[in-house]
Amino acid sequence: MFLQRRNRILRQSSAMRQLVAETRLSPADFIAPLFIDEGEQTATPIASMPGYYRRSLDLTVAEVKELYNMGIRAVLLFIKCSDALKDNTGLEAWNPDGLMQRSIKAIKNAVPDMVVMTDVALDPYSSYGHDGIVKDGEIVNDETVEALVKMSISHAAAGADMVAPSDMMDGRIGAIRTGLEENGYTRTGIMSYSAKYASCFYGPFRDALDSAPGFGDKKTYQMDPANRTEAIRETLMDIEEGADIVMVKPAMAYLDIIRDIRNQVDVPVSAYHVSGEYAMIKAAASMGWLNEEKAILESLGSIKRAGADLIATYFAKEAVKLIS
Ligand code: PBG
Repeated sequence: MFLQRRNRILRQSSAMRQLVAETRLSPADFIAPLFIDEGEQTATPIASMPGYYRRSLDLTVAEVKELYNMGIRAVLLFIKCSDALKDNTGLEAWNPDGLMQRSIKAIKNAVPDMVVMTDVALDPYSSYGHDGIVKDGEIVNDETVEALVKMSISHAAAGADMVAPSDMMDGRIGAIRTGLEENGYTRTGIMSYSAKYASCFYGPFRDALDSAPGFGDKKTYQMDPANRTEAIRETLMDIEEGADIVMVKPAMAYLDIIRDIRNQVDVPVSAYHVSGEYAMIKAAASMGWLNEEKAILESLGSIKRAGADLIATYFAKEAVKLIS
């Protein structure tokens, strides 16, 4: 054959492939989610997330130092609230001495340059395991937003760099932005979980924080996986209301949404490679059915290729080791 173009030329060696790679992963792409628990010197394994732990604050601080030294520049904090402090108002969520607020302070104190992001939603604090206040079996929007504003302000007061509302109530981004402005927190960012789907892939996370809904499901506030244009509407509204970074969640079953949003907005787009996506790879690898290292890099690479500028992932640390 006399071919004018042979595409295999650019694939012939590892060096050639590296030269023309269109997508590259780097440590600063990743946001590391961290689960924090009361106590000291404890790291509790999470059964459905092998290799991942819920740590006491002292061990969390040590972990953050390690992540920073590896080149990771953001952590996303979640706390496990004891049952005794859960109720249907969220009161503990804005306790200035609560576990979240103490954690923000300790981490910023130990590693000031790490970008500390905090989950904002009532589920870890809710006796019903829902992201909002429950009345007559319904998750009420506007009262929940008032609680989320108080929660966000208390995170900002503790020193959070960004609050990350993951609740999917209407109007919360605008209300949080106004609350931050009114209280002088003009340097606190908002990373909005703007297109968050009602997904089965959050199961292991709810085991980690003991936050599974006590009744019903989250379909009246999280999005229907069938919908695509709705994700764009949600995201554009959040940007108008003041979101600095938007997010698609989960990631791998929603790569089309990541691409749609990347093409339409002018703010950074993040994607959350969630607990169930982590668990699937870990489970298959433990059976010897998948090569774990290759599965991690191919998965995270696909999320970046789809258009995510940032990826929240439980594989952050492993991925950095694999690419360095
Ligand atoms: C809480 C929240 C959830 C996740 C992040 N924030 C669970 C949920 O909405 O039920 C899921 C993260 C994961 O599965 O890794 N609102």
